[in-house]
Amino acid sequence: MKDLYEKFAYDYDEFGAIEEYLGDEKTFLNKIFSEHGVNNILDCACGTGQHLLMLAQSGYNVWGSDYSNSMIEVAHKNLQMRGYNIPLHQCDFRFLEQEFDITFDAIVCLTNSLPHLHTEEDLLTALRSMKNRLNKNGLLVLTQGTTHFTLTLPSIEVVVNRSDFSRVFVKEHNNLFQTIHVLDLFHSPQRLESNQYDIVYRILLDEDYKRLLSQAGYTNIRVYGDYNMNSYNENSWRLIVVAEALPKCR
Ligand SMILES: C[S@@+](CC[C@H](N)C(=O)[O-])C[C@H]1O[C@@H](n2cnc3c(N)ncnc32)[C@H](O)[C@@H]1O
Repeated sequence: MKDLYEKFAYDYDEFGAIEEYLGDEKTFLNKIFSEHGVNNILDCACGTGQHLLMLAQSGYNVWGSDYSNSMIEVAHKNLQMRGYNIPLHQCDFRFLEQEFDITFDAIVCLTNSLPHLHTEEDLLTALRSMKNRLNKNGLLVLTQGTTHFTLTLPSIEVVVNRSDFSRVFVKEHNNLFQTIHVLDLFHSPQRLESNQYDIVYRILLDEDYKRLLSQAGYTNIRVYGDYNMNSYNENSWRLIVVAEALPKCR
């Protein structure tokens, strides 16, 4: 599998520094984790470490993994700089058991990470691999910005607009896949450069998650449309899934 973030990783945080997450995302995660007595959490698509930092600062024991060695390298630097020494592993989330022999109270896979897998078989393999690394009734949390509503928005979006840098998304989709062409434009005297990264996501919406998660052995599947815990609907800007791992059969 190709690492789409091999080069992108080193500029990824032009979105904003890793502490610049949405405050209501932190409140949401803390609420569901405290309701379930969660202590140990794996972020299995940790990227540059944004959520690891947030969760570690909230007092959880955290582990990170990601398919991309470059993302892991950037996360390592980001976290060390901020005084956190968090175990980080290069690992494909379809095969977590190859890297982890422990299990977790919760696994998170956030911000459009699972949809990097394109086939039903790969998606089920990943969801089962996550389930196998969860303690009894452990929680899986998945989030994404792709929703029924956001798929109707104009195809060009300026996501970062600074005097020295612009990041533009050019989006296209059919029934099954959404492609985001990320255009990075550095336009300062120090750095004059343009880069393009093309990320193809499998479109997974509320009913897809309910079906796949049931098949993979999860229960109590909830789909929210924002971090205030409103139910997902056609006007939602986010799709947030929380599910519990069914206890293993003997
Ligand atoms: C859009 S980024 C999101 C990163 C991070 N979760 C965040 O919220 O900023 C998607 C991440 O998923 C990772 N990823 C994609 N496919 C993966 C796989 N099969 N196993 C593990 N990580 C994967 C990528 O390397 C990338 O770091």
